[in-house]
Amino acid sequence: MTVQLQELAAQLESIRQEAQQALAATDSLEQLEQLRVKYLGKKGPIPQVLGGMAKLDAADRPRIGALANEVKEAIQSDLDRRRTALQAAQIQAQLEAETLDITMSGVYRPQGRIHPINGMMDRVTDIFVGLGYTVAEGPEMETDYYNFEALNFLHDHPARDMQDTLYLPDGNIMRTHTSSVQIRYMETNEPPVRIVMPGRCYRRDTVDATHSAVFHQVEILAVDEGLTFTDLKGTIKVFLEQLFGEVPIRFRPSFFPFTEPSAEVDVQWKGRWLEIMGCGMVDPNVLKAVGYDPEVYTGFAAGMGVERLAMVLHQIDDIRRLYTSDLRFLQQF
Ligand code: DAH
Repeated sequence: MTVQLQELAAQLESIRQEAQQALAATDSLEQLEQLRVKYLGKKGPIPQVLGGMAKLDAADRPRIGALANEVKEAIQSDLDRRRTALQAAQIQAQLEAETLDITMSGVYRPQGRIHPINGMMDRVTDIFVGLGYTVAEGPEMETDYYNFEALNFLHDHPARDMQDTLYLPDGNIMRTHTSSVQIRYMETNEPPVRIVMPGRCYRRDTVDATHSAVFHQVEILAVDEGLTFTDLKGTIKVFLEQLFGEVPIRFRPSFFPFTEPSAEVDVQWKGRWLEIMGCGMVDPNVLKAVGYDPEVYTGFAAGMGVERLAMVLHQIDDIRRLYTSDLRFLQQF
């Protein structure tokens, strides 16, 4: 090998080594592209070396050409390998950045739940809907007529004292019971009637463990030909069994102006009897007031205290807990 050939071969070898090192040190694809242009481009070092071929013997020229090709190929394959590695690293980095850690705990948003009063209204309503009743509602602000007069409360009747309420400046009142909805419904519908009427009521009651000035009732009313007290009693028993299962109950004679005869129903709560509803056979005067013929139709009705039903079902010791908005209490339902 001539000295000139050796020199050029050494130059090519050092280009190869330099390129190899530079490629190994790159860590971006842009940098890699710059190195490709630098080492393999037309203005790169290899064509420069080949420019020195003129000094060589004619016999050495093909050898240096072959050597130059080898170096080019070596650089090219280093470059390819490096590019593959960098691309894989890039994908890996992207995957890591976009990974969703499904074991991470989620964002916690406290979820509300049904208040025990609303829950009880729903339960009661559902049971009666299951017995074929439809839901009816009326306003909380009432006239004296719907709340008292049409329900057979005479103006000076002492029964009004038990249901004293808030009298509004315009002469309206806040309804003391859901019985007013009976009248509103019957005025606009013909018998047969089977309705369930949930709603909020107001009374001038002294608040204690079992009384509240604002409370809830669910009223039921059935009017048809041939209904008797047996139908009332059977309906109430089936209802209470559905709601509470087997609990001791008792029917106690009572008085309401709008029913005759009337009864109150008690269930066991905290070792004593708690009144949970009033009921009775619809008084003929009420049927007359809405234009039904009491010689043809009879009916039964009941109005139950929602809070009290909830107190019995959930063994709540004081009605006031239902209104305190104490989450420690409410979260138990
Ligand atoms: N309205 C009565 C009250 O609030 C309860 C009641 C008694 C409703 C007898 C009725 C009934 O429908 O027939 O005390």
